[in-house]
Amino acid sequence: MVTFSNKLKKIAEKKQTRIILSLDLTCRNDELLKKSKVLIANTANHICAVKINYHLLLPLSFNTLKNLISIIHKNNLLVIADIKLNDISSTNLVAINYLWKMGFDAIIVNPFVGFKDGLDLLLNSSRNKNKGVIFLVYMSHIGAKDGYGLEIFKNGKKNKLYYEFAQRALNWKADGMIIGGNNNKIITEILKSTKHKIDIFSPGIGYQGGNEIDAIKSGVDYLIIGRTIINSKNPSSILERISLNSWNASIKQNLS
Ligand code: XMP
Repeated sequence: MVTFSNKLKKIAEKKQTRIILSLDLTCRNDELLKKSKVLIANTANHICAVKINYHLLLPLSFNTLKNLISIIHKNNLLVIADIKLNDISSTNLVAINYLWKMGFDAIIVNPFVGFKDGLDLLLNSSRNKNKGVIFLVYMSHIGAKDGYGLEIFKNGKKNKLYYEFAQRALNWKADGMIIGGNNNKIITEILKSTKHKIDIFSPGIGYQGGNEIDAIKSGVDYLIIGRTIINSKNPSSILERISLNSWNASIKQNLS
């Protein structure tokens, strides 16, 4: 099947990289497209996908984004919309309708909103189109513990909210889970129940304190990296190093 997860895996194996570039440019609006193209050209060989956030989604027009996404696709890369969607199903359908028309391959959503009249229609519709839906399970910032780390009671049992979200990812057949790659303890804990049935995507490497080798050793499948690459004087050389380190760590991990 040509699911998002299968396509991403194939590209990652071909390019031998587990890195997803977070295209978080903060330059002038009229330079965003040009700088994005340069960055893609300089990094495409060492990344398997690009994540686009509000840095580009808000200032760029529908057609400019569509054009940019087609350029990214031509470089054999997938594109993920990082909008952490968290709304009722009718609004969610409007959002994905625009995103899929622009050419996005996957979206990040918040499972907090629930299934019925929340994520149900979005999940069905995305699956029918082989688009990916990635759940936020535990974010990478320090304050994530104030929300995702809360203790909850469900059916008389105490648990952490991130554990519940990981179960939702499994039960609702998400294509991936976002777990901060700077929190390896939580990754290990979640993996005890999800057992690698769903890919783990991790931001939080570099600027937010995480290390690519430790994250991969703890079970992360893909590393989402922005500022460490973008703000570097030589983005392609730093990317090459992180990509090689994490790829080698993943080979060792698979052998052990
Ligand atoms: P940096 O510069 O820290 O960029 O490498 C990380 C990128 O990822 C976003 N981000 C997250 N997105 N769940 C998400 O869906 C998270 O837990 C998370 N933490 C960071 C961030 O906005 C930036 O685009």
